[in-house]
Amino acid sequence: MELYLDSANLEEIKKAVDLGVITGVTTNPSLVSQQGGSFKDLIREICSLVPKTGSVSAEVMGESWREMVKEAEEIRTWGEQVTIKLPLTPDGIKACTILSGEGIKTNLTLVFSVNQALLAARAGATFVSPFVGRLDDIGRNGIDLVAQIASIFDHYQLPTRIIAASIRHPQHVVDAALAGADIATIPYKVFRQMFDHPLTEVGIKRFKADWAKFKES
Ligand code: E4P
Repeated sequence: MELYLDSANLEEIKKAVDLGVITGVTTNPSLVSQQGGSFKDLIREICSLVPKTGSVSAEVMGESWREMVKEAEEIRTWGEQVTIKLPLTPDGIKACTILSGEGIKTNLTLVFSVNQALLAARAGATFVSPFVGRLDDIGRNGIDLVAQIASIFDHYQLPTRIIAASIRHPQHVVDAALAGADIATIPYKVFRQMFDHPLTEVGIKRFKADWAKFKES
């Protein structure tokens, strides 16, 4: 399973990508709104940080498929990794069909059901993003949705890749991997938490102490 960073913060993206384990970034209008400057400059800067083979999701804001396609054709020119994020609405699906036909990468977002994921796959979406945490918030099981989509895409050999989104804690990352997600997109705080284990800290301290004794002897 690949790891993407779910962030529009350049400092976070720089620090995470620098470690060599992040292959893409997802943004959304809420994350972008927390940053300064223009959307275009931000996406261009993010693209300059992410591996050329990776993906940078940038969301369109139009409501009609015509507006979405027009926006997408501009946004895609901001970087070679740009993936157009489209909402799972009838207009978003039509825009996806058109953009997929033009070879433009797409990520269908705000996916909360298997049927929505199936529609995205039939429209040729590159990625589909089930929102795990937001489903958990309303008392449903977000990971079960990821597992159901993964099982169906696998059975029918559908090439659309699954991004487990709305990840809230490190266990979500483990569960997304076990459920068959292709990618988990992770907030910076959760990414940092993935490194932590008390036994790793204790182990480092003990090795250092033993090494110091050895050096003294
Ligand atoms: C990513 O594609 C989504 O926009 C993001 O994961 C949503 O996360 P949230 O539910 O924490 O806002």
